[in-house]
Amino acid sequence: MCGIVGYVGPKIANEFLIEGLRRLEYRGYDSAGTATLNGGGGIDIVKAVGRISGLAAKIAQTPNAATIGIGHTRWATHGVPNECNAHPHYGGNEDLAIAHNGVIENHAELKQSLVNKGYEFVSDTDTEVIAHLLADSLKTELERNGHADDDLALPAAAVRAATRKLRGTYGLAIVFRQYPGAIFAARLGSPLVIGLGDGENFLASDSAPLAGYTDRIVYLSDHQLAVLTTDGIQLSHRDQGDIDPDIQVLEVNAEQVDLGHFEHYMLKEIYEQPESISNTMRGRLNDDDATAVFGGLNLSPQELRKIKRIVFTACGTSWHSALVGEYLFEEIAHIPVEVEYASELRYRNPPMDNDTLIFAITQSGETADTLAALREMKRQGHLTMAICNVVGSSIAQEADGGIFLHAGPEIGVASTKAYTSQCVALVMLALYFGRLRHVSYNEGRRIIEDLKKLPAMVEKTLETNDKLREVAEKYQHATNFLYLGRHYNFPTALEGALKLKEISYVHAEGYPAAEMKHGPIALVDDQTPSVFVMPRGFIYDKVMSNVEEIKARGGPVIAIAVEGDNRIAEVADDVIYIPSVEEYLQPIVSIIPLQLRSYHIAVLRGCDVDKPRNLAKSVTVE
Ligand code: G6P
Repeated sequence: MCGIVGYVGPKIANEFLIEGLRRLEYRGYDSAGTATLNGGGGIDIVKAVGRISGLAAKIAQTPNAATIGIGHTRWATHGVPNECNAHPHYGGNEDLAIAHNGVIENHAELKQSLVNKGYEFVSDTDTEVIAHLLADSLKTELERNGHADDDLALPAAAVRAATRKLRGTYGLAIVFRQYPGAIFAARLGSPLVIGLGDGENFLASDSAPLAGYTDRIVYLSDHQLAVLTTDGIQLSHRDQGDIDPDIQVLEVNAEQVDLGHFEHYMLKEIYEQPESISNTMRGRLNDDDATAVFGGLNLSPQELRKIKRIVFTACGTSWHSALVGEYLFEEIAHIPVEVEYASELRYRNPPMDNDTLIFAITQSGETADTLAALREMKRQGHLTMAICNVVGSSIAQEADGGIFLHAGPEIGVASTKAYTSQCVALVMLALYFGRLRHVSYNEGRRIIEDLKKLPAMVEKTLETNDKLREVAEKYQHATNFLYLGRHYNFPTALEGALKLKEISYVHAEGYPAAEMKHGPIALVDDQTPSVFVMPRGFIYDKVMSNVEEIKARGGPVIAIAVEGDNRIAEVADDVIYIPSVEEYLQPIVSIIPLQLRSYHIAVLRGCDVDKPRNLAKSVTVE
């Protein structure tokens, strides 16, 4: 949620800042701004409500040759989206400017003490509190140590002192009028990445803006402070002194964050799924042992053998893949599984045995509730794992071990390729746990062979696109949809309904198909289409009865069924045919037409597919 960028070097700062903000726009997009240091010893802030294109146009009106600056794109938490609340914010008497991600919980009390000292607030944000607090800390440091304009230790000490007073989360980028050659960055619970260049350095709240500029990066950890100048970076812990930076290689390249020939990131990411699924499986299927291999679980097979129960915790789309995981683990690994909303788990106190393993499933690795649930489980002494897409993210850093999805950057706010990669990772994990217990060599080999065919099946499923566009046109004005499926396709129904709600603002409810008799069937009329996810399987006939029940009440039916199923064509109004795969792999194939259908309905209704209203890609507030 919200994005931060920073640049210091020989080039025009605004060029990187605007491009970086464009790439971060998916994290928040109600307003944006930049702060650059001008040659006259002042800080220029430019802000605009709405998208980055508006900010870019405004900046283009006043040429600005500054070579150091910071920028921010906002997803409002405190205060409505307007120019005044947009970041960066000045602190003191325009002595500094800051951009902030996160939420400051004690902002009210801090504000009162700053008001008492004479600081004037112009915005409704919690961020302005940090800005004035920093100005106040700088004043104290200057009074204590005298004016040493070239000594960056002094503003760094001010940042340390100010951040000690903050309760909550922050990723901060700060520039000081008096120290025009440096950007200061500090982190607690909200990610920041430094990009190391040649005579230039970059800052961003995730790695997407850095792709194509540098491939050497340093992730900041909690309580760390970085000072970026043209000469290099200096890293320290807030309370423990200097740290040697752990320089890592950025694996994202510029093409991965470009739209290419696609009109929207969501469509691009839907079409990337044959490849992203292959990447999730790459190097992890072991034919000889008929099992999956994971390098990062950090637990021996002997330790994992002792696990008696698994808890998956997640939010949003990731929670739906956790549900798929529940079915997979029951069937393949025979291990009891519970699926918990992270926002609920974090405040519950469920009795759990020692031999319970917790998996946090998350695309971004930054979702505040998932992180809090993981921490609570760790605090209780449980082993925690992450199934995560973003390397270097908070959850990936804090879990005891885990699996990276390697799905590549997901930029569309509605999750698509991360979801299918999560499901694939869960199949492999269930295979791994199953092979530690009762799954035979032959059965393991069969699962591996099925998995290997999956990317081609997904590729074939994408061929439904034209038909889905047609069907979307037919139902584009419907305002209510039911999504129904059973067993492995119950989570698909939930996820299909969520996709439609998220990007087209059309109401949709996902239900287990048989459960619709207990309420949702009252909604059925000729204006309320039902989408049935019903590939063949042991439950097919039962779902067919549910289709008949809907038809008997005049409800239109759109069916997602497997090729060759003529029976459904006689009953349903529209049928989308997908390839036949084993039942436990159906969720990975059957979700694809539902992703495409939501996409087409959203486009037909004129919605902003990649940046749906009120949503953000990663929800870093509670
Ligand atoms: C937000 C996004 C969803 C995502 C959810 C969980 O609500 O809009 O697409 O599923 O957060 O995010 P995570 O990064 O933890 O998977």
